[in-house]
Amino acid sequence: EKGGWDSFMEKEIHEDPTAVNDTLLGRFNQAGDIVLDEVRIEPDVFRSIDKIIVVACGTASYAGMVAKYAIEHWVRIPVEVELAHEFRYRDPILTPRTLVVAISQSGETMDTLMALRHAREQGSRVLAICNTQGSTIPRESDAVLYTHAGPEIAVASTKAFVAQIVAAYLLGLYLAQVKNTLFADEIHQIVAQLKAMPAKIQRVLDTQAGTVEATAKRLLDAHSFLFLGRHVGYPVAMEGALKLKEIAYTFTEGFAAGELKHGPIALVEAGEPVVVIVPSARGRDTLHNKVISGIEEVKARGAYTVAVAEEGDSDVGKYADVVFWRPECPTLLSPLVDVVPLQLLALDMARLKGYDVDKPRNLAKSVTVE
Ligand code: F6R
Repeated sequence: EKGGWDSFMEKEIHEDPTAVNDTLLGRFNQAGDIVLDEVRIEPDVFRSIDKIIVVACGTASYAGMVAKYAIEHWVRIPVEVELAHEFRYRDPILTPRTLVVAISQSGETMDTLMALRHAREQGSRVLAICNTQGSTIPRESDAVLYTHAGPEIAVASTKAFVAQIVAAYLLGLYLAQVKNTLFADEIHQIVAQLKAMPAKIQRVLDTQAGTVEATAKRLLDAHSFLFLGRHVGYPVAMEGALKLKEIAYTFTEGFAAGELKHGPIALVEAGEPVVVIVPSARGRDTLHNKVISGIEEVKARGAYTVAVAEEGDSDVGKYADVVFWRPECPTLLSPLVDVVPLQLLALDMARLKGYDVDKPRNLAKSVTVE
């Protein structure tokens, strides 16, 4: 059942490319227009949506944070991302023109279920992005867009995360299509770029696993890890930190790279690892330079610096002790590849420490209590 892998988590990480591919399948026509027939909300209703609120927990909430960057850019409506357990208790502003998107792998997370019930009581429409057919969250939602990642057995979520990003992106592109906020050509181009992602993820798995494992060995005795990223790299940093704390029981903190000087830099200690998600260097945009100078600063304080960076980035090597390379891809799609070495890093650290990677202590696969 583990298909020759030592653990479900290892198997499921290697299914990241398929999860992306299968979630895209059948969701666009020959030309590249988005077709979401299964989502039974009238295009007119979608056209009227003026705000999205994503409700989710844990990894699913980080997929929502990634999607915020893309959907706001493509659709020009505000997207809020709220932890489901916080949402319900703050009197959120919900109208019939608000689309609440509940993201959940299991479809049984009680916090997320309670949040969507509250949203529906207030007259908002709820669309579920879910990996489990027929589970409670899609059943109680107005519409569902399934992620086709296949069953996820390991407690730590991996392939479901990349599939959630893809599903949320399809929703964003569909909204852009019905609201005419992107040209058809632009949508077709993004669809083509999405279709190219499974091969890029596969390339990371094929070429970076050795470096990741050597890094895990080198860092086995580290006391704490810091993860930092900017823009879409910020939720990826949060996700990398969550994976490592969940299964390797290592104290980790993920944060936005721009926050470094506002506090977290005080945590940097000689020899302790800092993992940095580096945006593309193409065009040497300002974000790239700012993140590079963040690495420089932590390096100057003795940190062991691990970067996730784009192939061909000639700046990163100056300050990074080790680099996990990602193939070139558009910034908004980079989380789909950047998270992969971080999933592998958590797996390797846990495995090398002798822990049960599929069933970490204190955790359950679906959290069915509030
Ligand atoms: C992380 C993890 C949890 C879940 C969270 C939401 O690896 O597994 O953080 O992502 O409990 O679960 P779902 O997506 O089932 O609602």
